[in-house]
Amino acid sequence: MKRILLTVASLCLAVTALAQPQLRKDNIDEVLKAMTLEEKATLLVGGARAAVVNGVTSGTAWQVPGAAGNTRPVERLGIPGTVLADGPAGLRIQPTRQGDGNTYYCTGFPVGTLLASSWDIDLVEKVTTAMGNEVLEYGVDVLLAPGINIHRNPLCGRNFEYFSEDPLLSGKMAAAYVRGIQGNGVGTSIKHYAANNQETNRNEDDAQVSPRALREIYLKNFEIAVKESQPWTVMSSYNKLNGRYTQQDVDLLTTVLRDEWGFQGIVMTDWGNKAGTVTSTKAGNDLMEPGNQNEIDRIIAGVKDGTISQEELDRNVRNMLNYIVLTPHFRGYKFSNKPDLKAHAAVAREAAGEAMVLLRNENGALPLKGDEKVALYGISAIDFVAGGTGSGDVNKAYVVNMEDAMVNAGFTLDKGLADYYKAFIAYDKAQTALNGTTFSWFSRRKLAEIAIPAAAIQNEAKANDVAVVVLGRNAGEGADRRQVDDFELTNVERELLRDVSTAFHAAGKKVVVVLNIGGVIETASWKNMVDAIVLPWSPGQEGANAVADVLTGKVNPSGKLPMTFPVNFMDHPSSANFPYNYSNAGNMRGFGWGPRQPQKDVDYTKYEEGIWVGYRHFATKGVEVSYPFGFGLSYSYFVYSKPVVKATADGFEASVTVTNQGQVAGKEVVEVYVHAPEGGLEKPARELKGFAKTKLLAPGESQTVTVKVDSYSLASFNEATSAWETPAGNYEVMFGASVNDIRRSAFYKAKKAQSWPVHNVFALDRK
Ligand code: BGC
Repeated sequence: MKRILLTVASLCLAVTALAQPQLRKDNIDEVLKAMTLEEKATLLVGGARAAVVNGVTSGTAWQVPGAAGNTRPVERLGIPGTVLADGPAGLRIQPTRQGDGNTYYCTGFPVGTLLASSWDIDLVEKVTTAMGNEVLEYGVDVLLAPGINIHRNPLCGRNFEYFSEDPLLSGKMAAAYVRGIQGNGVGTSIKHYAANNQETNRNEDDAQVSPRALREIYLKNFEIAVKESQPWTVMSSYNKLNGRYTQQDVDLLTTVLRDEWGFQGIVMTDWGNKAGTVTSTKAGNDLMEPGNQNEIDRIIAGVKDGTISQEELDRNVRNMLNYIVLTPHFRGYKFSNKPDLKAHAAVAREAAGEAMVLLRNENGALPLKGDEKVALYGISAIDFVAGGTGSGDVNKAYVVNMEDAMVNAGFTLDKGLADYYKAFIAYDKAQTALNGTTFSWFSRRKLAEIAIPAAAIQNEAKANDVAVVVLGRNAGEGADRRQVDDFELTNVERELLRDVSTAFHAAGKKVVVVLNIGGVIETASWKNMVDAIVLPWSPGQEGANAVADVLTGKVNPSGKLPMTFPVNFMDHPSSANFPYNYSNAGNMRGFGWGPRQPQKDVDYTKYEEGIWVGYRHFATKGVEVSYPFGFGLSYSYFVYSKPVVKATADGFEASVTVTNQGQVAGKEVVEVYVHAPEGGLEKPARELKGFAKTKLLAPGESQTVTVKVDSYSLASFNEATSAWETPAGNYEVMFGASVNDIRRSAFYKAKKAQSWPVHNVFALDRK
């Protein structure tokens, strides 16, 4: 009897031991088999994040305070929890911890729009290699970045996080970003997939986009990023696309993302899963974030009643396990909590300088000598915007503002003026404290510009050598910008520019404007008043030093615009269908609004402009712009020569020689546009198909740059055949310094037409 009992006991032990395999890279199927339904459902739903309530940090040891979310561990099977944190301008975690004297600051790098302005793949990889090191060393597994939605309209509140109005530039930047981060052995999440091009009612708005525009503009950058960098994760968006929530859309998440593009990672929801957890799970949305018990229960119920098949469940769980074995938490990486913030600050400064765009420089107003007496105007010189608000806001140890940066660079600032601004800011702070006003992370307030009396400006014009005016804008998650007093200048800003220009020009002195903005603003009405305009966007914690580097000529600017600056807001065809003057309560539909009729641009947004987004519209229709896509000046001048286009087995190679004919060393971005043969689908006059940046060319030095273009990237999407099609014929290949400044061209002859059929899935009236 004793022996029988012993045998049963050891059998039981053996069964339990068998059923408890510990996760390894090579036993994923075995672990999957051993998992209970509850454990599987648990793995598909994120867990409570470490939070700070009344100063006390909750969470378990493996969690990272301030990280946006987690995946849950299944300890029995050796499946660790993993940590997900924002992105994209650096890692966002909580900088201090209860009862812990250490700090956990992260580097505030330049925002996505500035990185894209560099048009420099290597530079972006260098930045994100540094950024990814902070992700690794602070114990985080996935950076929730990059944000890659297309700049459909200048007023999207999160454009600063995103790269460009052009899908090729955006896709190439995204791939470089992902490679840099993932080179550290941590993951990325390209977001927000897809058509999340406005913040107003972002949770519910139905983006109504034609299949062609979707494929060519709004999905193209995701396609490039997936194929060229295989991000560990993709984040589906909050909004609907052609009638379906993207997180519940099998066409988007499985048919296109996995079957057509070969994506191998996991898809997670943006931070709020809809009630349809079951539909999301079936659609191929592997992970619900931030996650709650209801979602686990729904998945369990869905499997039990057969709505979710065993294959669907296991497919998602397998994806999760494949992801988990990649992570530092799985590897047991001993992170230091001590990344080299000093070295990374230097990378941030270098990148901001390299990417900055010089929009105007009349009569060589810049560079300055570096020892001038400067009248520094604008509240943003002190209240400097290093990055935007919301989840993209990095908790950095410090922000260098323009005042510090100018002094660091050796300029002497007008003290009276500096004191005036400082006194105002101090007063404002005191008032704010008095009123007890607090600002949520959705709405870090930007101080409005303050008026300076014209008489004072006249004195400053006498006492100083040059005026530098900093104009600022802040924007972020949860709300779009407005046309009035945001895209357009405020009256106080106009008066400031007018009075400063009048007084300084009367005194024979120059006026330089620095645009410390997150999104495009109106420039056409005032740019001719001033001598120079520098565009650093929101350049990160060291960005103001980089502005000074450009002002003094320590850095020769070589950035170019990743989007168009229109003359008027309404010139953008998307403006007719964008909530530009909507007094919105952010993304919070239903908060006190109650039921109502579906409202245009709020509950649904018709992308009536189709593929005619940004320069595709302006360059084709010949509409005047203030600054065209791809535009940016240098302190040097570059000449393009010897354009050559050579057919390859599958497309062509385009090369051109660039010579620096200026007096100082500099870099030039060469943009390659294509004009397709006439007939067939209507196509833009010029479409970006490639780009290259030269090395630093000494005066007189030349470099031949080469760009490869394959036939598939020449294709347009034909809705009638549901295929990508590249017609045969002559393609004009143009080498441009901007989309409106074509310097050389040559022809490529496509001998045969080619087509790539894909699934016919995004009909506007699909169910
Ligand atoms: C944002 C995402 C972000 C997430 C986690 C969401 O509200 O849309 O971009 O990654 O929050 O913080």
